[in-house]
Amino acid sequence: MKNLIGIEDFSKEEIDKLIEISKDIMTNKTKYIDKCKGKILATLFFEPSTRTRLSFESAMLSLGGNVIGFSSASNSSTSKGESLADTIKVVSGYSDIIAMRHPKEGAPVVAADNSNVPIINAGDGGHNHPTQTLLDLLTISKEKGHIDDLVVGLCGDLKYGRTVHSLVTALSLYSNIRFVFISPKELKMPEYVKTTILDKKGIPYIETNDLEGSIPELDVLYMTRIQRERFSDIAVYERLKDVYILDKKKLENAKKDLSILHPLPRVNEISVDVDDDQRACYFRQAENGRYMRMAIILKLLGEIDFENKSHDNAIIDNNLRCQNDKCITLEERGLKPLVIKDDNGKIRCKYCEHDISVI
Ligand code: NCD
Repeated sequence: MKNLIGIEDFSKEEIDKLIEISKDIMTNKTKYIDKCKGKILATLFFEPSTRTRLSFESAMLSLGGNVIGFSSASNSSTSKGESLADTIKVVSGYSDIIAMRHPKEGAPVVAADNSNVPIINAGDGGHNHPTQTLLDLLTISKEKGHIDDLVVGLCGDLKYGRTVHSLVTALSLYSNIRFVFISPKELKMPEYVKTTILDKKGIPYIETNDLEGSIPELDVLYMTRIQRERFSDIAVYERLKDVYILDKKKLENAKKDLSILHPLPRVNEISVDVDDDQRACYFRQAENGRYMRMAIILKLLGEIDFENKSHDNAIIDNNLRCQNDKCITLEERGLKPLVIKDDNGKIRCKYCEHDISVI
């Protein structure tokens, strides 16, 4: 069974193929209009969304398929106390593929373990967002003509922003990438991304809080929203919310071919006066999402050959409990205490990947 839980479910070759297919869909739309005729996509969004849900729905409709679903947990039986596992067991009987978004980290792993149809992670808490990453890569490839040999700046909420975690993981597959992580000290890139992905592969990165000073050397600048909904102390959010505002003035010393990306929604972090600059790619990026999600659906429904790596190398350890208060294991009833050993020998929660070696 094929799922897309984290970007590591796809190899570099598969990612490149998805990019190639997305580009083909854009130029040859009619070739694809019947590819999913008779198939049903369920979009289960336990957390708000505009682009991700609607572009998934638009993607399935553009492939000739149909769509069912809900757009908030309050419209589903979750509000009556139903477990995620039960919801998925039922919905997988009504659909051929499920795209889901959930506030708890690791929730799509629970879904995949209870589904008869492919599960697509459309965002799990502050953890991962692999389909956003695939459309980000498509955007970089279209705008720059290549994904290798780039200095990539990521700016804003690197701690809670799930898009940047998946994006750094994916970009680590390409050659000669250098990262500049721009954030306040409270919102730095999580340790697990830096140690298990970048340090392990010897990929260079620097951490700074200086946006303006970093801009001149960047080929790509990926701006992100400060993730209000993930702060336990709202006073900290209020203090940090407008820490970075990209405007025309800050772009004065930027490269002429800089690409400015943002997963959207934007709050204040990019001033609207940047929108008519050719280097602002974010609305083109959002549109790319429709075509990339068409490619993802085709792949997971077996219309395109690919080999899927499994998340199923987990073992049960009754002595370990995940300590991450945002993990799905703290909410969902009856989950086995499943752990995985990473390449550095650390024991991690199977669901949210937090290090649980030392408690
Ligand atoms: C992002 C998300 O949901 O993580 N949005 C999106 O999917 N396009 C970014 C965000 O909400 O800030």
